[in-house]
Amino acid sequence: MAKTVRLDRFLAEMKQGTRSEVKEFIRKGKVTVDGAVCRAPEQKIDPDVNEVCLSGNRIGWAAVEYYMLNKPQGVVSATEDGRYKTVTELISDSRRKDLFPVGRLDIDTEGLLLITNDGSLAHMLLAPGKHVDKVYFARVRGKLREGTEKRFREGLVLPDGQKLLPADLIFLNSREEEGEFYSEVRLTIREGKFHQVKRMFEAEGGSVVYLKRISMGSLILDDTLKPGEYRELTSEEIRLLKDRQ
Ligand code: URA
Repeated sequence: MAKTVRLDRFLAEMKQGTRSEVKEFIRKGKVTVDGAVCRAPEQKIDPDVNEVCLSGNRIGWAAVEYYMLNKPQGVVSATEDGRYKTVTELISDSRRKDLFPVGRLDIDTEGLLLITNDGSLAHMLLAPGKHVDKVYFARVRGKLREGTEKRFREGLVLPDGQKLLPADLIFLNSREEEGEFYSEVRLTIREGKFHQVKRMFEAEGGSVVYLKRISMGSLILDDTLKPGEYRELTSEEIRLLKDRQ
């Protein structure tokens, strides 16, 4: 069945202005539907069928959009923030204005963030009980206690008593620098508790000095994306993400 939407809503969703601004454009006769001026904001259109133009420019339609962002440090995982730049502001050429990040990375964490307006996919990836694998690369300062890998594997109990799901820790390398001990690790966790990775290492006597998310479920950060860069997901990446669930 055809999906219809009000003309003013369509234009607002496609980032052509606020709802009241686009109503004004419509009333002023700046909007055409299939070549004919339409002055009725409530006019129903089918975006897959009707051609909508504003001031002569064709307005493209996307029902859903999916972007992979390499989140840089200093940007918040939100859609609006009074103080910091947000991850959705970085997706400068998106067609839709209702994009949001799927989950959160801390302001000082880099790496993979999925940005979409697909609420059901977000739910499938984030809902408790889904246990989607999230892989992080971390640089940790300080010598960890004996047996960290085993405790992570068996489900670490945080100092506040929270028992975590099993996590896989792989040491990539370690070195001493100016009297400080550093390890580089790869950690796979299956839930997304507040500051989880940082708190896990703190519980073991370490301090995370750099954190980057590498993957989430089947979605792997494209290593050609520099921090702050993004690209649309391929149809195969979208299919794999949806299939897993
Ligand atoms: N764990 C953290 O501590 N921070 C993040 O940003 C993500 C996971």
